[in-house]
Amino acid sequence: MHENRFLAAEAQTGLSRCEGIPAAYTGSMLRTMSGVQPTGNLHIGNYLGALVNWVELQRQYESFFSIVDLHALTQRPPAEQLRRAVREVAIGVLASGVDPEQATVFVQSEVPQHTELTWILSCVTQLGDLNRMTQFKDKSATQPDNINAGLFTYPVLQTADIVLYRAERVPVGEDQEQHLELARETVRRFNTVYAEVFPEPQVVRSTAPRVLGLDGESKMSKSRNNEIGLFETADETMQKLRGAKTDPARLRRSDAGNPDVCNIFSYHGFFTPAAERDEIAAGCRGATLGCVDCKSKLAANLEAVKGPIRERANELRSRPGELDEILAAGAVKARAAAEATMVLVRDAIGVRGPKL
Ligand code: TYM
Repeated sequence: MHENRFLAAEAQTGLSRCEGIPAAYTGSMLRTMSGVQPTGNLHIGNYLGALVNWVELQRQYESFFSIVDLHALTQRPPAEQLRRAVREVAIGVLASGVDPEQATVFVQSEVPQHTELTWILSCVTQLGDLNRMTQFKDKSATQPDNINAGLFTYPVLQTADIVLYRAERVPVGEDQEQHLELARETVRRFNTVYAEVFPEPQVVRSTAPRVLGLDGESKMSKSRNNEIGLFETADETMQKLRGAKTDPARLRRSDAGNPDVCNIFSYHGFFTPAAERDEIAAGCRGATLGCVDCKSKLAANLEAVKGPIRERANELRSRPGELDEILAAGAVKARAAAEATMVLVRDAIGVRGPKL
């Protein structure tokens, strides 16, 4: 039922969601959508929690991946800093393996339908549901001088991002799951009050939905300054690892360590082949391998992943025109898909909207 109404809407607008998308990725494929904020450089939490799944899903789903610059405004970054961050994060997404031939990669503010739908969904979303969002409380605590309304309604914009593409799958880290639950609630409410326009989006979890920061205590995040940057060199990473927490009970190299409680060992779980990991665990338990050596091995294995990403990022930086073209083409495809949904939405709620 969705599909027919959707295709009809496309015919009506003269816009095709297939525009510019290779034939193999159109038709009855399910859709996936996700976003990342341009609020600093990407870190391995973003990579493991979300980007690896973006790369995986782009092969099976019609994919929309966005650099969500409007969300970043809740932190009020200086304009020039935001412009730079949008480019750097887009470069990171592409360098991590998201392929613009397979996925639509775009900047959120280039698709004005996101803000139009946000207002409409604001009138559907319940205050009580927004009040329960833990991320609002966390963010308010980190910026007590700027608790703006956008911070509070942030999940409404996020819901609009997803449902604008009528996406069924949303690859995100654990920290976004509460927002996704709210999105599902909003979809149910909209579909009940008006018409069955949106599918209920489901979270796609990666194998590392919550990567801890170098402090070993809180989630790795840009704002906590506890991250391993995706573009960092091996030396920069080793420098950071040197100060990172390990098994707190292992005070001297001659003490036996416990890898099960060591944050550094948890990173080995993501980057080190199983056989080497077993050796490291045995060396730690038997006190034959010190923490510095364990960290050096991690730095080397991290570099095997980060090195090629850094190289691809440098190549993209050296060809800024190419990045502009990729983002411009992505915006065209995203706007077409977004407008097709908005035709259904406006029709369902009874507003006229722009005549394109
Ligand atoms: P953002 O920019 O904070 O993070 C981007 C993605 O990285 C994941 N992530 C992590 N995963 C595991 N461990 C970590 N330490 C870690 N840190 C970050 C996040 O879960 C996310 O998947 N509100 C979103 C962006 C957004 C969005 C959307 C996502 C806006 N609209 C629509 C999905 C769909 C955010 O701030 O992500």
